[in-house]
Amino acid sequence: MPQSEDRRRFIRIALVGGIAVVSGAVGAASVFFPPHVGGSSGGARRPLAPLLKLGALEKGAPLGLQISLSSRDAWRLRTRQQTVYILRVADGDDAAAFKAMSPICSHAGCEVEYHDADGKFLCACHGAEFDVQGAVTKGPAPRDLDVLGVSIAEHEGKPWLFVDWQEFVTGTPDSTPKGSA
Ligand code: FES
Repeated sequence: MPQSEDRRRFIRIALVGGIAVVSGAVGAASVFFPPHVGGSSGGARRPLAPLLKLGALEKGAPLGLQISLSSRDAWRLRTRQQTVYILRVADGDDAAAFKAMSPICSHAGCEVEYHDADGKFLCACHGAEFDVQGAVTKGPAPRDLDVLGVSIAEHEGKPWLFVDWQEFVTGTPDSTPKGSA
């Protein structure tokens, strides 16, 4: 066999072998890595609570609920619980009856807590305060608590309120989603 034909044959075998190795690697990766579950900073639609449970929620009394957030860090899948505050703003059981607020303080990112006795959200880091609607009443927070989108969808065979979890840039007067700049 002429030398150039040997060379072409070698390249063909190398290419086919290479594709097989790459295909195998992709297959292994898709088995090894769990499906994407959404980052912790944004774009994560999460079930918040069954509507039945929220039916008893009274106006003017925010309720802290936990959602589960997952993010992938190289090989590891990390899951953490995140509080979201939900407030009834109207009668009924459609999404417009509820307002979801991020607990992340707009000043520097600490988590605020709602204090029933005072009827306000307090930030322990630098003393910012927010009223029951999330409006800032005492600095240094530069803006209100960030509002999260809500929707209603079927979950585990029942209607649930879902929240679109999103983190926002802190230290600014405007509510800007992280990663949108
Ligand atoms: S982080 Fe909340 S007041 Fe500074």
